[in-house]
Amino acid sequence: MSDMEALKRAAAVAAAEEVRDGMVLGLGTGSTVAHLLPAIAVRGLRDLRCVATSVATAEQAASLGIVVEPFDAVERLDLAIDGADQIAPDGWIVKGGGGAHVREKIVAAAADRFVVIADKTKVVDKLSAPIPLELLEYGLPATLARLTPCDLRPGMPPSPDGNLIADYAGPVDDPATLAALLSAMPGVVDHGLFPPALTAEIIIATTAGIERRALR
Ligand code: A5P
Repeated sequence: MSDMEALKRAAAVAAAEEVRDGMVLGLGTGSTVAHLLPAIAVRGLRDLRCVATSVATAEQAASLGIVVEPFDAVERLDLAIDGADQIAPDGWIVKGGGGAHVREKIVAAAADRFVVIADKTKVVDKLSAPIPLELLEYGLPATLARLTPCDLRPGMPPSPDGNLIADYAGPVDDPATLAALLSAMPGVVDHGLFPPALTAEIIIATTAGIERRALR
């Protein structure tokens, strides 16, 4: 295992320790979460209910014996755990490198505690492009024109909800202002900017050990 994978695994294992039997748990998406699932499976929790943010996560969970329910059968989650692409000092996060940010944000918002796991390379001084977007296909040229600079992500299949994945390539001077602008744009289903208020804790694995940042 590479040093980077070992750090992802360390963050994932630390978060897995927060999972308790009887919880309803949201499972994120990505290569860091890929380490989380076996770390949860090995705990052998018998009364754990899970929802997944992507087909890939649902399939890996099932292969490990973790039962995943459709999210239309669950109203609230005790805990959701997910990776990140960028983590700013003030707790703003960029997600969606895998194009799953819309479902990830819905799951994070439904959780009493949303915990972000990452290796140290995800920590940045300031957020920057690309900012992932999920766009409705209807009126797509007009939406893209209003979002300039923005491009559809090459080779990316539609989301499980039938929408298109794109990346905003402009400046990210103030994440809150940009998030509000993108949220208000017709045709934008959602964006990959996650505000600090959504996150309870960030677990970052460094070569010196695990760093925990509590946001609330
Ligand atoms: C999926 O769309 C993303 O939000 C991922 O959670 C994020 O890109 C982190 O992925 P890695 O753990 O693979 O870096």
